[in-house]
Amino acid sequence: MTRKMILTWAAVVVLAVASTATAEPIVIKFSHVVAVDTPKGQAAEYFKKLAEERTNGAVKIEVYPNSQLYKDKEEVEALQMGSVHMLAPSLAKFAPLGVKEFELYDLPYIFNNYEELHKVTNGPIGKKLLAKLEPKGILGLAYWDNGFKVMSANKPLRMPADFRGLKMRIQSSKILDAQMRALGAIPQVMAFSEVYQALQTGVVDGTENPPSNLYTQKMYEVQKYITLSDHGYLGYAVIVNKKFWEGLPADIRTQLESAMADATQFANDIAKKKNEEDMDAVKQSGKSEIISLTPEELAAWKVPLLKVHDKMADRIGADLLQEVYQATGFKK
Ligand code: LMR
Repeated sequence: MTRKMILTWAAVVVLAVASTATAEPIVIKFSHVVAVDTPKGQAAEYFKKLAEERTNGAVKIEVYPNSQLYKDKEEVEALQMGSVHMLAPSLAKFAPLGVKEFELYDLPYIFNNYEELHKVTNGPIGKKLLAKLEPKGILGLAYWDNGFKVMSANKPLRMPADFRGLKMRIQSSKILDAQMRALGAIPQVMAFSEVYQALQTGVVDGTENPPSNLYTQKMYEVQKYITLSDHGYLGYAVIVNKKFWEGLPADIRTQLESAMADATQFANDIAKKKNEEDMDAVKQSGKSEIISLTPEELAAWKVPLLKVHDKMADRIGADLLQEVYQATGFKK
């Protein structure tokens, strides 16, 4: 090697080192609509921590909780346009993306517990659903749990007849619409960020959500009665813009995937406990009366609600619904 070649080589190395040291990190914007102190909020923070550690700072995750950046509908549009890179919408919000099959997770009483749910989310059905997002320019990375929903209103909801004529806020899912109609209520689709005020001002009479959302959004302060109905599940899929994700350097993507795997484990480990703790906190507050259903009342709820399965089977796909029943051992 000539002296000139050595000098040139040295200059290249110095430049390469300098550019690594000063390189701007890749920024990943992760937007969501719930409070930081929820299963999703905590898992997003944990993912940020792991991702930044494992990429040695080459990636910076900016988490925007509480609809700070976008509300429900806008966040999905923003993801498709690339203005935000990562979201974890609830499974009830995927139909506008063109994959209405995700609404199967909204069917009333389809899962008795997390174990049954995980047979779907962690099995071939869960995978198949995430794959349906790809042609829409979206990659599904993981399912994150939240929990089972309670119903709330300013009157006690013990029997289906108690719902008659109540305006109940729902997410934008046709299954949830059918569920509220089956109970005789009037469903009202509304962004999550608007629910507290709508309950407070009487724009809607009641709503449904897992305790973690009811508590952290302070909905219990403006709802006199909460029924522990566990009538449906609410959880999430973590999604990214496919073009953005596939454009990341391969080593970075691998590190992010490993961070996501651990954040998913974390989310699903804390979800149940967090919901139990938040329900306890609601009880402690003394602001709402908590109603547990008797076995007879529960049986009465199931009569109209299980009919929603048959009524909405075409929307989900009758075969897919049968596959879910088989995976979980569901019996009417
Ligand atoms: C809702 O809109 O009620 C939920 O989807 C909010 C959430 O993300 O948990």
